[in-house]
Amino acid sequence: MPKMTITLTQSQTQRTRRITAIMPCMLFSISILTVLGMTGCDMGKQEATMGFQTSASSETQTLLKKWCGDCHAPPRPSSHGRGEWRPIVLRMQQHRNTSGLSPIAEEDMRKLIHYFQTNAPS
Ligand code: HEC
Repeated sequence: MPKMTITLTQSQTQRTRRITAIMPCMLFSISILTVLGMTGCDMGKQEATMGFQTSASSETQTLLKKWCGDCHAPPRPSSHGRGEWRPIVLRMQQHRNTSGLSPIAEEDMRKLIHYFQTNAPS
């Protein structure tokens, strides 16, 4: 008889344990989903603010990825004034040199500066 009581109590505790173990697991799954959802939104927002995907021609996008993407996301033309872009791109050329990356081809450099200048606020 006492043996029976013991096994019963044990299985009850186990069941209770299982339920308490499931609860945080469910909460965790919900929070993971929330985080994933938020990340999805953030990515969309980033693409929208990046702007170049829509405003730049596919050739410009290729140039941006090729010459700027090694180090950071290509900036939006609106992030700097028209007059600032030439010195910035020239400085980036220096960054490429000091990092041992191939220098931006002259023709591509001209196109990139033109793209930033024409899409920058005056
Ligand atoms: C070799 C790495 C490298 C490459 C390639 C590179 N950058 Fe940069 N970029 C940097 C670093 C480092 C900084 C921060 C220091 C600075 O501003 O010079 C920076 C900063 C910038 C800034 C902020 C400057 C400011 O004054 O706010 C802009 C805009 C920028 N880069 C544009 C570009 C563009 C456009 C390209 C492509 C043509 C490019 N970068 C390619 C390394 C790079």
